[in-house]
Order: sequence, then structure tokens, then C-alpha cells
Amino acid sequence: MPLPPLHPETIEQVKQRVDIVDVISDHVVLRKRGKDFTGLCPFHEDKSPSFSVSPTKQFYYCFSCGAGGNAIKFLMEFRKESFADVVLELAKRYQVPVKTLEPAQRQELQRQMSLREQLYEVLAITARFFEHALHQPQGEAALKYLKEQRRLKEETVQQFQVGYAPGGWQTLYTYLVDHKGYPVELIEQAGLIVPRQAGQGSGYYDRFRDRLIIPIHDLQGRVIGFGGRALGDEQPKYLNSPETELFDKGKNLFALHFARAAIAKQDQAVVVEGYFDVIALHAAGITNAVASLGTALSLAQVRLLLRYTESKQIIFNFDADNAGMKAAQRAIGEVADLAYQGEVKLRILNLPQGKDPDEFLQHHKPEDYQNLLNQAPLWLDWQIQQTLVGVDLNQADQFQQATQDLVKLLGNLPNATLRTHYIHRCAELLSRGNPHLTVQLESDLRTQVRGQRWHGRSQKWQRPGDRTLLEESEAQLLRLYLHLPEYRSFIQEALEERDLDFSLAHHRLLWQQMMQIAESQSADPATVDQLAAPPNANDLLDRLQDTCTDHPDQLAYLYHLMQLDEKTQRDLLRAPLVIRAATACMERVLCEKRCRHFLNLWEKLDRTTSPDQSLFLQQQIYAEKQRIAELDQQQRHTTFTDLAQIPWVGEFYEALEASPSV
Ligand code: UTP
Ligand code: MN
Repeated sequence: MPLPPLHPETIEQVKQRVDIVDVISDHVVLRKRGKDFTGLCPFHEDKSPSFSVSPTKQFYYCFSCGAGGNAIKFLMEFRKESFADVVLELAKRYQVPVKTLEPAQRQELQRQMSLREQLYEVLAITARFFEHALHQPQGEAALKYLKEQRRLKEETVQQFQVGYAPGGWQTLYTYLVDHKGYPVELIEQAGLIVPRQAGQGSGYYDRFRDRLIIPIHDLQGRVIGFGGRALGDEQPKYLNSPETELFDKGKNLFALHFARAAIAKQDQAVVVEGYFDVIALHAAGITNAVASLGTALSLAQVRLLLRYTESKQIIFNFDADNAGMKAAQRAIGEVADLAYQGEVKLRILNLPQGKDPDEFLQHHKPEDYQNLLNQAPLWLDWQIQQTLVGVDLNQADQFQQATQDLVKLLGNLPNATLRTHYIHRCAELLSRGNPHLTVQLESDLRTQVRGQRWHGRSQKWQRPGDRTLLEESEAQLLRLYLHLPEYRSFIQEALEERDLDFSLAHHRLLWQQMMQIAESQSADPATVDQLAAPPNANDLLDRLQDTCTDHPDQLAYLYHLMQLDEKTQRDLLRAPLVIRAATACMERVLCEKRCRHFLNLWEKLDRTTSPDQSLFLQQQIYAEKQRIAELDQQQRHTTFTDLAQIPWVGEFYEALEASPSV
């Protein structure tokens, strides 16, 4: 349920009163260094202080993990609370009177605020109730099951707060309502009871009955939901809490609050399928393991894990049965973009004999598991293997299909060296060791992969590998605009002259906001004076921070632009060069897009009936290609490291060869 909007006045006053150093020092030890304060970043495992807080800008920023923002953002991230929750709390702290838009809405707001707190409370009480029941006579069979069938030690049972939901339709209901006096609606909203269906009497019954209970915690270790396992063969095997105000299955991971320190320390996270797999792994000392919550692993969950591993290593250890393979494929699909770009180093482990980690550990030592983890293939190798499973390469149609699938996989690889490596590897696999055939197939594959890349580009309007380069160029321009007032009109002209626009939505948004601010400044007579001198850089920054704070979801993308580190400081010193290179990059992408568009038209055209049109298109294509070549020429003369490292020039000519000649 969305919170009713706070009165803008309240938000404004809170922002003015709050002191970021005051707020952050509640949670981080800060030392003064020059104008700013520094400390250990609370958002990642920080060994040397890379976290800095600026009282003048009312801003924090971590140079290692990129976390950054104002005091409100800090509390939102640190406590995982909503914007409104944080503003309200700060209002209390700094004695700002709280106004919402209407009194009725204010009441609703207060009701909801306390709703979350009440939900945490009732879930905590329930977890304790289940834990207690496990150690009562009624829980005897469940405890026996845990100790004997699952071979869990008492300390593991305690650590995971495993419990037992007694049988009977209203055991928990009676406890919470009659003994503890909680309102029925609250318990329903916590997902603990279910209303009876029409015709089956009135009232509610317990969701979890005669099941083992595994509590699910958030990052702060608060219970937000439960998984309940049947003790026998009843269906479903696992019954989970529904999504509630607190329980978002796509944004939490089972046992992450236990695992995050180990993930940071070992710089690697293991994702498994089941709750008991995680429990068994942790019991065996492999404590960097987490699981999804009975739903497919989402990109948001992977990103959550990536916060804790510096080198971005994630290993999926899904079951090797059909369902597990599907789960793995789906999860890989979610992160494929990141994986191709090298933003996650993904490996896939399938245990021998199709075992899950829990079963494996019943018969093997933890070291054996660790060894298998260390040897797990990279995801692309795994994908290639999977493509060839059950394929009879002697059958022409199957051979053809497998080749196509492999070409598709490799076509997305932005890195040319890796592509060469995998093309060779696939040629070997397809030729089954026949060296003659390998050479032939390798050359075929190379041609096909090239074609696929060129074709794929026409759909995405850019090469896969360009995304980061384009993104970086756009970011550089925006950063310069923000921090170097004297270059603002120059940048604006450079873009307008060549009709360039930002391609990433959050960049476009920032640009529009800056243009709006510039316009309002020139329209406002009170600021006419400032027009003579360029407007103050911080002025623009301040105003942007305000705008952005009202759009918390966009903050994450934009804060790194508002901050400068060593590298971006250097960019400021060579602003003209950077502007030239960055606009060239943007224009090049645009040219390619147009070029491809004309090519498409030309390919579809009946050239015998419309020779003029054909000639026109050829000229257009030629002009675009010329411009691209010019831009590449410029690029080669712009010798600064990050752009020069990108091997796009050679690659582009490679692609041209593969395209129909004009
Ligand atoms: P599995 O069926 O692989 O179970 O489900 P498991 O982990 O091996 O369970 P044990 O060892 O028999 O106890 C893996 C995960 O899928 C979700 C649960 O999160 C479970 O841990 N699941 C499975 C459900 O949500 N509902 C189900 O009915 C089954
Ligand atoms: Mn299992």
C-alpha cells in the first residue's frame, strides 16, 4: 500500500534541519579529514576507510562500492526503510512538525507506520512460539525428524530458529488472539492465518499446521516470513508465507543475514535451491550460501549478493534434476547481460548423481564440496556443455541446431579475445577431435558469429560491447556539465549541433532536469545577476539533489555523477578532450543506427524497379560509413586510456566485411 504523501513542506524542513554527520555518526565511526569526514563504509566489507561524508555538501560517498547520497538516502539504505519512514523519523528527531496532505491521510500514515512495526513484532512472537513448540511433546516427531533424518545438531536448529507449527486449525490463532490480544487483521496481514472460504464456516484457520518451520529473515535479522516443510509426503512439500507488507520474495534471500560476512570474506557467494541445502551447508562450515524463497532467482536478488562480493563471484548450485536445470537456465537468463559484460563472474555447479547439497553432505566431507565449488565451470562453458547434451552430431538437423544455438551464445560475447577462445572450443566440440574438421568449422563459426553480432546489433541498435562505453561517455559529459560551469554552454552546443541525445533513461532524465533548472534560473529575475557570472556549480548540485531525493529509485544511478574520484577528477583537467571523445562515441552509435536502418531498407528494396531509391540509400549508407570512419579517426587521435583500450575500431571493420557490400 503506498504511503499517503507527506507535505512537501515537511520534507523540505527535514532536509534543511538534518545534519548528515550527526545522522551517520550514529552508525559509523567518523574521523575528520580536512573539510570532510571519513570512516569504514557500512555498505560493504571495508578494510581501509573509503567512506567519506561532506558536511558542506550534506553528502556521503564510498569510493570503493559507490554507495552515496544524502542523509535520507543513508538511512533508507542502512535500515532498509522507505523514504517516508525515514523522513518521519528524522522529523521526530529534529522536531519538525509532520504535515501530510490531509488529516485523514495523516492518520492512515501513522496507522501504516505502526503496521510495519506491529508486523515485525507479531512475526517475532510467532517464531518464538514455533521454536518453543518444537521442544514440547507435540513437537517430538518433528524434532526427531530434524535430528535423525536431517542429522542436524541442536546448535544448528537453534541458529536457524527452526520450529514446529502444531497441528490443529487454530493453535497459533488462539495463542496470538486469545492469549496475546493481537488483532485478527494484523495476523492475517502477517500471512499467518487464512480466511475460511465461503460455505466452510466463518473465521480463520492457521496457515501452517503440523509442519517444520524455517523462519526467513531480512538483512537486519528480523523475521519477515516462514517456510513450512511437511513432515511426511503431504503436499505441498513446502508451504511459504505469502507476500506481505514485509515479505518481498524477489528482494530477499534466505540466510543472507548469516551469509553476508562470509560472502564478503571469501569474496564469493553460493546460491542453492533449498532451505535445507543452506542449513546443511552452514552446518558444514560453508557459510557463504543462500537460497531464493521458493520463487525463481531474480536479478534484484543477484544484485543484492553482488554488494558483498568485490570480485563478483557467484556460483549457482542448483539440483541436477529437470526442475533444477530449468531453474538454472532461468536464473542464468536473468543475469546473462551482467555475465556477458563480466559484471558478474558466474559459475555453475551440478553435483554428481544429481544430488542436492544437503544429500551430498550426508555422505561427503565439506572439503569435497569445497573442491567441487572450486572446479565449477564458468557459466558459458556450462551453457555450451548443456547445448550439446543429448545431441547426436551425426544427424545433420541436430548438428545444424546445435551450431545455431552455439552461435547465438557466442554472438553476445563483447570481448573479442574470449570470442576467439570459445569459437575454437566449440569447433573442437562439434568436430569431436577431428583436427581437419576443427579448422574448417572454426572458420565457419567465426563467420556466423560475426553475422550474428552484426544482426543482433541491428535489433539493439548497438553492439553489445558498446553499452558500457556509451554509458561511460554519457556519464563523462554529464559529470563535466555538473562540475565545470564554464564548459556548460560548450557541452550543450556540442550536443545540439550534432543532434545528440542521451540514450540511457536515467541520463536523459538528469539532462532534462538540468535543462529545466537552467531555464528557471534564466527566467527568474532574482537570479539575473548570476547570469553574468556562470552559475555556481554547487548551486546546480544542490538543486539536483533535492529533485533526486524525491525520486529515490533514480538516485542509485545518478549519485556517482555528482561525486568525483581520482579518475573523474582527471577528466575535469582534460575536459575538451573528454567532450570530443564522448560526443564522438555518442554520434558513432547514432550513425551506426542510421546506417543499419538504411541497409535494412536497401535489402528489402526491389532494386530493378526503384533504381533511384536504391542509389539514394547507397549514398546514405556510404555517408554514414564515412562519418563513422572519421569519428574513428578522431578517436585514434584522442589518446586517453579508457577509450583507447576499447578494440572497437578493428571490430567495426570486421563487421563491415560481413555486411552486404554497397
Ligand atoms: P526441493 O523440492 O528441491 O526440496 O525444493 P529440497 O530443498 O531438496 O527439500 P528437502 O531436502 O526434500 O526438504 C527446493 C526449494 O523450493 C521451494 C522451497 O524453497 C525449497 O526449499 N519449494 C519446494 C516450495 O516453495 N514449495 C514446494 O512445494 C517445493
Ligand atoms: Mn533436499
